[in-house]
Amino acid sequence: MDHFLYREGVLHAEDVPVAEIAAQVGTPFYCYSAATLTRHFRLFDEALDGLDHLVCFAMKSNSNLAVLKLLAAEGAGMDVVSGGEYARARAAGVPGDRIVFSGVGKTRDEMRAALEGGIRQFNVESEPEMRALSEVAAGMGQRAPIAIRVNPDVDARTHAKIATGKSENKFGIPIARAREVYAEAAALPGIEVVGIDVHIGSQLVELEPFELAYTKVAELTRALRDDGHDIRRLDLGGGLGIPYTRSNEAPPLPRDYGDLIKRTVGDLGCEVEIEPGRLISGNAGIMVSKVIYVKSGEGRDFLILDGAMNDLVRPSMYDAHHDIVPVIEPAAGAEQQPYDIVGPVCETGDTFARQRPMPVLQPDDLVAFRSAGAYGAVMASEYNSRPLIPEVLVQGDKWAVIRSRPSFEEMIGRDQVPDWLEADA
Ligand code: LLP
Repeated sequence: MDHFLYREGVLHAEDVPVAEIAAQVGTPFYCYSAATLTRHFRLFDEALDGLDHLVCFAMKSNSNLAVLKLLAAEGAGMDVVSGGEYARARAAGVPGDRIVFSGVGKTRDEMRAALEGGIRQFNVESEPEMRALSEVAAGMGQRAPIAIRVNPDVDARTHAKIATGKSENKFGIPIARAREVYAEAAALPGIEVVGIDVHIGSQLVELEPFELAYTKVAELTRALRDDGHDIRRLDLGGGLGIPYTRSNEAPPLPRDYGDLIKRTVGDLGCEVEIEPGRLISGNAGIMVSKVIYVKSGEGRDFLILDGAMNDLVRPSMYDAHHDIVPVIEPAAGAEQQPYDIVGPVCETGDTFARQRPMPVLQPDDLVAFRSAGAYGAVMASEYNSRPLIPEVLVQGDKWAVIRSRPSFEEMIGRDQVPDWLEADA
């Protein structure tokens, strides 16, 4: 459920007509609903009710400072994967003891910054990383709290580019070797083992892969405790999928996911962390774009929009489907026709949808891409020298630009031409 609905024939973000924002901000832009963000966060928080738990928002899905602040005020922790995300989380006021640091390639500088600023735990993904972290922490007179990410060799049955829990993926250490690696961890001077971490992939639309993975984690917890490790925390990752189409998808609900967690690991007495990203932010955002031209091609019509693959890369990168709806509600029974919906970037891959049935549209009509709040703005680039598009947050009848559109001057001004090149000119 989200808060982007037609009212009196116009798509609204909560209580604000989307066309009103477009008139002031220009297109394309991202628009987020605060009510949807908090609602989705609370669904997870409530699903884990009864367990000692922390919901750490995977801020890679949407890292705008205002979004982070909103979720932090709800009590969210953050799952960060870079020094930049760590800095953003801190800038949003998230205390270090609510931040977990994931990722296969943490640098020593990133480790140092997190140890200085405060960190709940590092999710360590390899032995070389663990040794480096031990050295950095010991050098600072500290012991770094860690969970080791285990790879449970479970098929998440999702898109290959976002599945992470099979043995051939680069993530975590093979679960079969976990006892050996925990033994080494226990002996390292700068490491304090606090738990186990697992994340098997993203956009999972079934619970079974989670069940398999968490069952393996529960077994491992018992084995590691027998080996003398104080396993007191389990980070169960993110990955619960969302419906990208209104019609035929019904992924499992956070409540059922919470029940599964309780069933598989609830009796271990561990503190539980989860790292959902997409389910919190995905359906809390739309991307609004304008039709520039309607072009008749060979046997097909193209809707050429002002938004492009650099603004929302998911369709070209993962063949992802996003529902695209007109901002002005079509009349009931209005004629539909198929369009290829494309952006202006000079690549055939800059295609959002092929032969998508849409009401008949004209230049200057606005359309909204649904489910664009996760992995939308954060994956944007300035390809074709198209400035990053603005982000807007709506709360009730209030709205504000939470990242503005850079001018061409600002975009170009980041480049620097060396003196010797000027001199040659
Ligand atoms: N934790 C870890 C360690 C992760 O790697 C991820 C996502 C998450 C949590 C959050 O997963 P979520 O709940 O959002 O599914 N750009 C792709 C998705 C990449 C996901 C990467 N890792 C897309 O647009 O579909």
